Amino acid sequence: MDKFDFNGKKVLVTGASSGVGREVAILFSRMGAKVVIIARREDELKNTLALMYGNNHSYRVLDLSDFDRIIEILKDIVSKDGEKFDYIAHCAGLAIPIPLRSMSFVNISQIFSINTYSFMALLKCVAQKRIFNDGGAVVGISSCVGVYGQSANAVYGASKGAMDAFVKSAAKELRPRKIRVNTICPCGIKTEMLANQTVKDIEGKKIDELPDYLMLPDKVASIVVALLSDSMQYISGVALDVDEAKTWED
Ligand SMILES: NC(=O)c1ccc[n+]([C@@H]2O[C@H](COP(=O)([O-])OP(=O)(O)OC[C@H]3O[C@@H](n4cnc5c(N)ncnc54)[C@H](OP(=O)(O)O)[C@@H]3O)[C@@H](O)[C@H]2O)c1
Repeated sequence: MDKFDFNGKKVLVTGASSGVGREVAILFSRMGAKVVIIARREDELKNTLALMYGNNHSYRVLDLSDFDRIIEILKDIVSKDGEKFDYIAHCAGLAIPIPLRSMSFVNISQIFSINTYSFMALLKCVAQKRIFNDGGAVVGISSCVGVYGQSANAVYGASKGAMDAFVKSAAKELRPRKIRVNTICPCGIKTEMLANQTVKDIEGKKIDELPDYLMLPDKVASIVVALLSDSMQYISGVALDVDEAKTWED
């Protein structure tokens, strides 16, 4: 059997209105999957759908900061077409630089809601047999900031580091159903998120003007899809560095 064959498989991609998530959705559509894409900006979700191959895909507008709503929506998607999910790529994320002196419960909660709690909500769905098929896989996009740190980004890094820790136990719990759970920890990628950062070489630049040493979102997307594929059969509970062996330069 072709380990990269996604024909007949149903995939959920969060954060598919731009950046890596959009590229993951496009790639899955090329590989034959039925893809459901999620984000808040409806116009951009429609733009992603227009770039995808085939016409059996759909979108849902959803704010991932609402833990219970995520579970409701996934149940609703499955009940509408009677098909459970096989794969989830959690690409949505929020990066707001917060120096230690500016931390508040509100801004910490906001970052953790979107990066971490939503990932936990998705894995709660995966644990329900009526929502997610046995033998599937989940990948969350974490960050090298969680692994190596970055000044003014301790909250973001902690929210991503929590994802990396979470998959270690989730992978054990889901192993009896042969469901694999991993994260990837990339460094800088040429996307809107990075263009909005106040970092050396980057501040005030448009995506096209960002430096060439940054990774491209379609290349990172192919790593996400490869890690979800059956070719990675024994890989679970892992936080995989995706940084060409270079750590973030502060
Ligand atoms: N770019 C980098 O250098 C870099 C490096 C390491 C890790 N990452 C991680 O890679 C992932 C993809 O980011 P990207 O670089 O592709 O940036 P991006 O283009 O800004 O994508 C972020 C996505 O998250 C979605 N999102 C944000 N808040 C949301 C919310 N409350 N509810 C639902 N969706 C929400 C956005 O959609 P809407 O605005 O339409 O809701 C968008 O689709 C993120 O997890 C990020 O932390 C990025």
